[in-house]
This record gives sequence, structure tokens and C-alpha cells, in this order.
Amino acid sequence: MCDGMSAFRGLLLLLLLSGFVAFHELEALKITRLSVPRWIENGTLESVTLDCEYSLTDKDNRLVVKWFFNDDPKPIYQWIPELGSRLVSEKLQGRIDMNFSVTPSSKFTEFRNLRILKPTSQLSGKYSCHVASFNGIDTAEGEMTVYAPAKLLRFNYTKTKSDRAKFSCEVGHVYPVPDISVYKISPGESEPTIITDGVAKVSDQDDSYRVLVTYEVKDSELKPDGATRFECLILFPGTDYKRYSSITYYPGGAARTVANVQYFGDQSPSGSQSISTYLGMIFLNVALVFGGTNRFENHVMPCN
Ligand SMILES: *[C@@H]1O[C@H](CO)[C@@H](O)[C@H](O)[C@H]1NC(C)=O
Ligand SMILES: *[C@@H]1O[C@H](CO)[C@@H](O)[C@H](O)[C@H]1NC(C)=O
Ligand SMILES: *[C@@H]1O[C@H](CO)[C@@H](O)[C@H](O)[C@H]1NC(C)=O
Repeated sequence: MCDGMSAFRGLLLLLLLSGFVAFHELEALKITRLSVPRWIENGTLESVTLDCEYSLTDKDNRLVVKWFFNDDPKPIYQWIPELGSRLVSEKLQGRIDMNFSVTPSSKFTEFRNLRILKPTSQLSGKYSCHVASFNGIDTAEGEMTVYAPAKLLRFNYTKTKSDRAKFSCEVGHVYPVPDISVYKISPGESEPTIITDGVAKVSDQDDSYRVLVTYEVKDSELKPDGATRFECLILFPGTDYKRYSSITYYPGGAARTVANVQYFGDQSPSGSQSISTYLGMIFLNVALVFGGTNRFENHVMPCN
């Protein structure tokens, strides 16, 4: 009897408590949606808008909205509606559109978002929205990467000895470091085999990266008759961005170098904001015979 009673009391208390918690959750200041685009292409957008939606009650006075970038403890943007005060960090001075406001909006939502003008790769990183009032506090964060397509893809090999060759695949002026894979397709086959013993080296190149993958191929590992095709593929997972280069290799034969070079990018002199146009692609196939200066193939084919 007594046990039953205390169990009943316990249940009642639990019900009361959960009701209290639910009530509080309903009332507390809360971020309901954070919108930070995961991937955007460098140099293609006039602006990108990061938004942070929250639910408020009339208890939420002294509202402060802040945006943070990466692990910088100082906000890049801060808005206090009741004071009509908006601050942009030095780092983003001139990069934020201060005229832009949320529509429809209220006095407490108008300037909650961050509109970044002409987003570039340096603005890749973690963005956190931080909303606080006298009544509550909430935070949310999202990652944005402003990727820059490679400006160069150079794939070549040099026959270093009569029975082996050294391959290099170089990607230039790219951000961030892309996924880069090298494959081999044996004569008469269509399925590529991934080459796993390539060595990748990453170096800084202005505000971007240069990535060089090298590997050695021994003729004894290849099918002796016919051409083996080698491929180098770069991509950013999560985007449609993908580029590749391929080269044909015959075992044996004379010492030689074969190169396939592609340049990408906007080379228009006016430099206007053409949307990542891919204006020129130059193929260069060079075969050199050691001991001579006989360059017997050299095509330049500008496309588009
Ligand atoms: C990004 O775009 C800007 C403006 O178009 C350009 O100046 C910059 O070099 C680009 N960054 C990279 C990493 O390609
Ligand atoms: C914001 O408005 C001011 C004054 O109207 C104007 O000078 C400025 O260019 C505008 N900025 C943007 C990014 O539109
Ligand atoms: C082959 O590519 C590597 C890396 O891009 C480069 O350093 C080298 O000069 C190239 N060799 C030839 C002959 O094109």
C-alpha cells in the first residue's frame, strides 16, 4: 500500500518535471534553422547569405546576435537590436553587405544574417551563430568551403631507365586540397585499377595549393603487349567538380618524356565576372628522343 503510494507520487513528480522541462523548452530562445551553404565556387557569386533563424518570446529582451568565424573568440559580426548597433570585425570590413535585411522581418530579426560580398576561398571555414537574450542562449554552426577549381593539371611521365618510368600528376592553384587519385587501365581491359603507392606532396601557392603526386611504374608489372592507360583524377567530394587527364604508355622502347598539360580558367582580358568560364584548354603532347632534340609531336588545340 505504502509502496504503491510512493510509486504514484514518484510518477506524479516525473510528470510534473517533464511538463516543466517541456514548458521551458518551448519558452527558451532557440535557433530553429541555420543556413550555411556547404560548397560554393570561388569568384562566381556576387554574395552569399548565411542565415540564422530563431524563435523568440516577449521575454527575450536584450537580444544579441553574433556570428563567429572558425575559432576566433571575437565575433565577425554583432547586432544588438535594442541599441540599433551593428559591428563588423576588421577582418570582414567591407566584405559584409550592411544594407541587406531579412524580409519579412521584425525589429528582432531584421539584421540577423550575414551577407558576404564576393566570397573567396579565404572565407572558407566554420561559421557559428550565437543568439542570446535575458531569457536564454543558443548556438549553431556550419561549415562553408569556397572552392577554387584547379588552374593547371599536368600529367606526364619520364622514362628514367629502359624498364621503368616516373609519373607525375600536378594540380596547380586549387583550393582546398582536392581528392586526387591515379589509375591504371591495362590493355584490353576497361576497369581501372587504383595505384596506391603514389606519393603526394602539398605546397602553398598564393592563397591556394599545389599538389604533386608521383609514382614509378616498372615495365615488368605491365602487360607486355599493348598500351596501358594511366589516369589522374581530381575532384571535390560533395560537388560536381571533377577533372582528369590520361596518358598512354607502352612498355620498353626508347627513353622519352610524354606530357599532357591542361590549363583552366578565365583568361579573358576584361576579367568581368564571367561565371567560372572555362575558356581555354591546351593539350600539349611532347615526345622527346633522348640524345637528340627531335620534338616530333606538339599539338596546341585551344577549345571553345
Ligand atoms: C578566387 O577568386 C578571386 C576573385 O575572382 C581571385 O582573385 C582569387 O585568385 C581566387 N582564388 C583562388 C584560390 O583561385
Ligand atoms: C549600401 O547603401 C549605401 C547608401 O545607400 C551605398 O552607398 C552602398 O553602396 C550600399 N552597399 C551595398 C553593398 O549595396
Ligand atoms: C612533369 O611534371 C612535373 C610536375 O608537374 C614537372 O616538374 C616536370 O617538369 C614535368 N616534366 C616534363 C618533361 O614536362
